[in-house]
Amino acid sequence: MMAATEETGRGRVPGVSGQRSGSGSRRRIVSRVLLPGALLALAVVVAGCAGDQPDIFRPGGSAGHEIKTLSYQMFAILAVVLITVWALLAFVIIKFRRRPESKASQTRGNLKLEIVWTLIPAVIVTVLFVLTVQTTKQIAMPDPGAQLSAVGHRWWWEFDFPEQGFKTANEVYVAVGRTTSIDVESVDVIHSFWVPQMGGKVDMIPGRVNHIHFVPLKEGRYLGECSEFCGQQHGKMRFLFVVVSPEKYSAWAHRQAEPAAQPTGAEAVAGGKLIQTISCGSCHTIRGTPMKGTFGPDLTHFGSRSGIAAYTLPNTPENLLAWLVDPQAIKPECTMPTVPLPLPQQQQLVAYLEELK
Ligand code: CUA
Repeated sequence: MMAATEETGRGRVPGVSGQRSGSGSRRRIVSRVLLPGALLALAVVVAGCAGDQPDIFRPGGSAGHEIKTLSYQMFAILAVVLITVWALLAFVIIKFRRRPESKASQTRGNLKLEIVWTLIPAVIVTVLFVLTVQTTKQIAMPDPGAQLSAVGHRWWWEFDFPEQGFKTANEVYVAVGRTTSIDVESVDVIHSFWVPQMGGKVDMIPGRVNHIHFVPLKEGRYLGECSEFCGQQHGKMRFLFVVVSPEKYSAWAHRQAEPAAQPTGAEAVAGGKLIQTISCGSCHTIRGTPMKGTFGPDLTHFGSRSGIAAYTLPNTPENLLAWLVDPQAIKPECTMPTVPLPLPQQQQLVAYLEELK
């Protein structure tokens, strides 16, 4: 209570507080509104510049380029509007400032002025509208038809390549320069497919197939994420979108279509036997083994992936062990149960899964 009284300036000697209230309230506006606002804006700018963030101003796909161009055009037009308004405001404030002897003249019903300040915004909005429609048209290029589907799960991504006959999870490769055409759906709640640097996002709605297509223009590893709030782990629903040369893409797809590798190391061999005797197969598939579950991610080439837990942790033996021992500690409310085994057996599972390249 004391602190609050001091902070708000109440409880001071009335005369003094009355005289100082003007500059005090101005100081309060600076310290409570402007300063935090400026710091927040700075934080947003700095976060946007961080190298590992998906930066929409460094696009890697066709739609991303169109959207970047449109953003710059809009920014330029709106900057001109802002500067003009500020300049006019400054001019009016200085030119018509209060003078002791002057009296404000009243004007109303000036038809010319009314027309001018209705026309100017109408023209600006029309220009923005035309630019947006043009960009939308350029993004909607001819579509060769979907080669793969992306399925949203709480909280991971399934990628299904029906023609090549394989499924993978949380990491997908596509060929540079070729139209990537994806059907998107969901098995539980509404998610949203988004690779910011490719451009465009599309809702994944249960019971409905939506669609997105674009041309990846630059090789690289791009972050994909869910952009529709879908529950507690929405923020940990990511995937890796890798754009490679057509040759590398063919090699990747070929490898993914193969059944799982036979384990070679002693620990991995033991893990390969062990995993068939516990309940992993009721949720996971490992092609080439009796495990055929479809509720969880396909693990056939688990060891080849860069991340685990929907690309939120690097795929290292340490992280995988921590995940098996207590998935709920890493992603509370996820559907992966704890694997109730002693540590040496957990380590055998890790050795086996990491060999599934
Ligand atoms: Cu899935 Cu947010």
